[in-house]
Amino acid sequence: QIQTANSESRQVIFFILCFCVCQSGAESLHYSLAEEMERDSFVANIAKDLGVSPSQLAARKARVVSEGNEQLFRLNQNTGALTAKESLDRDEICPQSDTCTLFFKIFFENPFQLIRGEVEVLDVNDNSPVFPEKEMVLEILETASPGSRFHLESAQDKDVGSNGLQNYSLESNSHFSLALETGKDGLRYVELVLQRQLDREEQRELNLLLTATDGGSPPRSGTAQVRIVVVDANDNIPVFRQEVYEVRLPENSPPEQLVVRVAAADPDEGSYGKVRYAFTQTLERSRQLFELNPATGEIRVDAPSGTVVALLHVQDRDSGANGEVRCSIGEGLPFRLEKSFEGYYRVVTARELDREEVAEYNVTVRAADGGSPSLWSGAVLALRVLDVNDNAPVFAEARYSARLPENNAAGALVLTVRAADADWGQNARVRYRLSEGRVRGAPLSSYVSVQAETGALYALRSFDYEEVREVGLWVRAEDGGAPALSSNVSVRLVIVDENDNAPQVLYPPAAPGAGWAGVELAPRSAEPGALVAKVVAVDADAGQNAWLSYELAKATEPGLFRVGLHSGEVRTARAVSERDAARQRLVVLVRDRGQPPRSATATLGIALVDGFSDAHVRVSEEAPAAEPDGPLTLYLIASLACVSSLFLATAVAAVVVKVRRARRSQAEPLPTFPKAATESNAGSLPRNYVYDVCFAAGTVNSEFRFLRPLFPCFPAGLPPGPGEQRSSAEDLPTPSYPLKFSYFIATDDLD
Ligand SMILES: *[C@@H]1O[C@H](CO)[C@@H](O)[C@H](O)[C@H]1NC(C)=O
Ligand SMILES: *[C@@H]1O[C@H](CO)[C@@H](O)[C@H](O)[C@H]1NC(C)=O
Ligand SMILES: *[C@@H]1O[C@H](CO)[C@@H](O)[C@H](O)[C@H]1NC(C)=O
Repeated sequence: QIQTANSESRQVIFFILCFCVCQSGAESLHYSLAEEMERDSFVANIAKDLGVSPSQLAARKARVVSEGNEQLFRLNQNTGALTAKESLDRDEICPQSDTCTLFFKIFFENPFQLIRGEVEVLDVNDNSPVFPEKEMVLEILETASPGSRFHLESAQDKDVGSNGLQNYSLESNSHFSLALETGKDGLRYVELVLQRQLDREEQRELNLLLTATDGGSPPRSGTAQVRIVVVDANDNIPVFRQEVYEVRLPENSPPEQLVVRVAAADPDEGSYGKVRYAFTQTLERSRQLFELNPATGEIRVDAPSGTVVALLHVQDRDSGANGEVRCSIGEGLPFRLEKSFEGYYRVVTARELDREEVAEYNVTVRAADGGSPSLWSGAVLALRVLDVNDNAPVFAEARYSARLPENNAAGALVLTVRAADADWGQNARVRYRLSEGRVRGAPLSSYVSVQAETGALYALRSFDYEEVREVGLWVRAEDGGAPALSSNVSVRLVIVDENDNAPQVLYPPAAPGAGWAGVELAPRSAEPGALVAKVVAVDADAGQNAWLSYELAKATEPGLFRVGLHSGEVRTARAVSERDAARQRLVVLVRDRGQPPRSATATLGIALVDGFSDAHVRVSEEAPAAEPDGPLTLYLIASLACVSSLFLATAVAAVVVKVRRARRSQAEPLPTFPKAATESNAGSLPRNYVYDVCFAAGTVNSEFRFLRPLFPCFPAGLPPGPGEQRSSAEDLPTPSYPLKFSYFIATDDLD
């Protein structure tokens, strides 16, 4: 046995494993040669190994013959060197086998000899591990639990033994590690081990570099990309963009109007991320009113009704097409037919029903089979639409008004309001009531009442036109539905005047008891037509009932005085003669034009005087009753003096102003006039006369007259007409009586 080793820089490594020469002539040579050597690499020296001289090789014509077709080796007869003709590729010659041996024979002649030999081709690490695919794609569910293992494709290395694939490594990452396993067949394979839970919403994909290394020296490696696709699991709940959607929707919004579009997002993928919408915890009523599109989240008004009103069962004993039943209902009806389940049909409302429009339907359902000829039958469904309280009562008139004469009897019927309700039964039962209100501070209900059932409006008390002229109120009509619907109507109650007030004489004032109010002074020199006095009366009624006329009812000297029919002015009818008595007494009848008329009388005393000095003496003599007592008189005097001086000052100022304004200013209204008198248009006090306030202060006992014609100041009798004016105190005629102060307050029309 010869063993030789030569390890010169990877050029030649061979061993002579065995050398033996057999008696039978069969000898065997064992060599080894590393693969991938250059051509003509030296394998062994045959001559040396066989113990023959190289010259003998040539002499005996030694030659080498490879087993198989290809001659791989060459023998140099001069040196005895056995060389490889070509570079030997072990992976090609004997792929995937652990040993690779090439057999050859050497022939000798003279004598013939055959020697067997073999060359083991030794593996060198000339191949890297290679993965079958450069990229491996793994789909891993995101819910996979840590510890889960995922098989990876193994790499291949054509080298064998320690030069073959030894180990795998994975790019460092936070989710996976590698596990190397040896299978039952002894093959090593590699697995990914999940270390930490995946989350698709965090990371959809991981790319890891897998490296396979062999055991060569130096080792070779191959890589592959491992792409891990994280597969979505339905691990996210949909989330609405807004927690609360608030929408303001006008009533009577048309059907199909978009109310709001709600939106929820789900980050899951595919069908897991698809969101469907549905109502929850929603009242049935709301579900009826609104329609929700499950796919888009759009909420729209007045979802189509679709109430099931009837369930039909249809059967046909035939089989096949002959037993196939088709049902239909008439056109133009607010119902449709829906197939429910085998043999059953539902009659469903197709739109809203209005009992006030159509209260009853006769729906004909026709069922026909598929036979030829087709057989059919029909049925009539009588459907009655039930009432809901959807109509409010409607008053027959938009507003009511009534005229009620005053002094009516308490409990008098004023008018009847009426409202109709289109609903049925209790929903149409209208009841009336008065809305709250007040009349002259008192509750309206103390004046009028409405009968709930009939709508009759009654006056609860007697009205007085002079107190209340008009009452406005609201009557409410409410039906008996639940909830009740109501409407209201305005009612105007006009109180009509009656002639229930007699004229009231303001001037001359009636003296207490006597009816002799005072005395007017009239100069005997007065011309016919001179104004002596004016009777002023008012009537609290209105219209004709307050239109007053004056006439002389009684006179001491008939014909001396006359009274203006509408003005109430007492004027001289003729010149005063010597024979006429100094004291005249007139009774003036004041009458309104009501039906029946009412009247009052005024008594006037007139003293015919030559001058005012004796007149006032007489007057004071004639009115002893008016004499005030001592201390009171004193106070009166004092106050009068005060007032007088104040008045004087004011008057002087007024006069000065007047002078300044000379021909310009005219308007300065009189002090307040009795309201009743100005209110009345009936002519009891014509406006186009001028009445001056005259303060005749001859003595403190003299009378203080209000609204007295300024007769004593103007002997001519007539006061200045409208538009005329007196510019200053100097223009005044000198009074012929002991008048101390006489000032004008105003000179114009009342207007
Ligand atoms: C395989 O490689 C890993 C690191 O990549 C190392 O920790 C391990 O010891 C190696 N295994 C063998 C059998 O060489
Ligand atoms: C429905 O049929 C009944 C009975 O035939 C009849 O009295 C009624 O008037 C019909 N109603 C309508 C709305 O046609
Ligand atoms: C009556 O109805 C009208 C509108 O129809 C309303 O303006 C008014 O306030 C109501 N009056 C009362 C007293 O209810």
